[in-house]
Amino acid sequence: MADYIYTMEIRLTPDQMKGVNLVQDVARVAGITLYLTGGAIRDIISGFTIRDLDFTVQGNPLKLQKEFERAGAQLAGHDDDVRTLFLVLPGNVRAEIGMAHTEHYEKVGKPPVVAPASIQEDLRRRDFTVNAMALSLNEGSRGLLLDPFNGVADIEAKVLRILHNYSFVEDPSRLIRATRFAARFHWPLEERTQQRYESAKENKYIDHISRSAIGHEIAQLAHEDDPLSVVRALEKEDWLKVLHPHWTTAKMDTNGLGQLMKTRQQLVDLGYTVDPSPAVMHFLTAKLADKDISDLRRQIPRKDLIEAWRDLENHAKELAKRLTGKEAATPSRTWNLLSAARSEMVLFLAVTARHQTVAQKIKNFLTKWRDVQKRIPLPEMTELLITPQLPEYPKIARDVFMLLLDGKLRSHTETLKFLKPFAPPPPPPPPPPRRGRGPKAAAVVAPTEAAPGKKGDVAKGKGKAKDKAAAVAAPQMAAPVAKPEAKAKPEVKAKPQVKAKPEARSKPAKASTPKPAKHPTKPAAKHPAKKAAPKKVKTKKVKARKR
Ligand code: CTP
Repeated sequence: MADYIYTMEIRLTPDQMKGVNLVQDVARVAGITLYLTGGAIRDIISGFTIRDLDFTVQGNPLKLQKEFERAGAQLAGHDDDVRTLFLVLPGNVRAEIGMAHTEHYEKVGKPPVVAPASIQEDLRRRDFTVNAMALSLNEGSRGLLLDPFNGVADIEAKVLRILHNYSFVEDPSRLIRATRFAARFHWPLEERTQQRYESAKENKYIDHISRSAIGHEIAQLAHEDDPLSVVRALEKEDWLKVLHPHWTTAKMDTNGLGQLMKTRQQLVDLGYTVDPSPAVMHFLTAKLADKDISDLRRQIPRKDLIEAWRDLENHAKELAKRLTGKEAATPSRTWNLLSAARSEMVLFLAVTARHQTVAQKIKNFLTKWRDVQKRIPLPEMTELLITPQLPEYPKIARDVFMLLLDGKLRSHTETLKFLKPFAPPPPPPPPPPRRGRGPKAAAVVAPTEAAPGKKGDVAKGKGKAKDKAAAVAAPQMAAPVAKPEAKAKPEVKAKPQVKAKPEARSKPAKASTPKPAKHPTKPAAKHPAKKAAPKKVKTKKVKARKR
């Protein structure tokens, strides 16, 4: 049986997963039954991008608004008719918490009568089989998937299937949704669904679409990964004008939109989390009259999207102004300014900036200056023991980068010269080997050359030079010898040696403590004290290898 909790955990982003935990905690404390539902489940199972989290509770989520806010969620709107909270969870995760309910359509074109219901009944009022699943997030049944219409099979078959013959009559917005999902996933409508779709279209059921459904569908366009292909499909089916009578693809800035999505990918590849939805709305409506844009905004249920879209141009202007001022007088200052700016603004400005200087600075920020990072001499820094374990490492690394950006460190030699004073003092040298009694003593530190030694097996008469050679050789030999052993017998003391190589960076920090050192390059004889303890360690290593 599939482990859907595991699938959820590996498919959600860390922020989305935290969001699930947050909602789960609030629901548990409130004693309310909670399910992850709809598109989130479909996307988790199908492998598509999980755009938002839809939760359904058996109870009234509107009553939990304060609790959600206390837990760190922000309210982005609510729909009192179907008792749904629209939230923004930490990390900019969009979520909806809806009440499990039934919808009775008494008259075509009239809103349904909504009544609280169980999750099973709720699933029956949904649009497509692939959206009619629920994953329990409740103690005792956590991970149980409710899939009464075999949505998993339709995901596997890649088809969109309505749950019953009246689906499009009851809620004509499903015609738009069918087109939107088909364009997004490239999943066709199942045969009977296609027939019902055609007949609903012919009978103009769409004329009965509710205003709130229109608003919901407008907002959904903002979150499409490929909005252009979706709006083209909607236009082809005559649905775009249902969303607004003046809306056509000719009223959109399609080039800008294409550029936006490309730049968005560039930012994502650089590791930024960026929500392009306000900018998508900007380009989708670029040539619409102001009044039409206001009409569209009024219908959108989420006020976070409306505000971000409305403020986009002004915020971009502010950032552009700062980029031409003193604050961005040097590459390093510009880097700092753009690093601190919201990624959404950087994205929007990258596509819309008309001022040559601004455009060039953003371009450098996204491309050329990234290459400067590659000139930070990391291997040499490691040799100098300037590693992330040093508390001052972030500052040193940052300063080097800033100086490189500004051209103040022009060569590798200059960079090293700058770095050297930051090198911490070398760790204390290794302890002298304990003087053994027998001639096999050297074997203790040169296990591949001689039979593993007994405790105290350091050659008395071979002199300091030999000791030094053995001490240098030991760590190099340790890794390949110890690695396989550590797998077989993880408990033996050879285990730290496995870590020794990859974790070499962590040594310097530890080395500054007075512990016996394992430093490879210092002659053992110079070490003043702590004779017995390190010897024991070495002897045990040999024993471990032998086993
Ligand atoms: N739903 C429905 N009929 C509608 C709108 C929504 O049955 N007209 C149900 C579906 O189960 C849907 C869920 O409510 O999955 C959430 O709606 P929405 O967020 O619009 O859709 P998602 O499926 O999440 O799609 P998207 O990926 O576009 O967010």
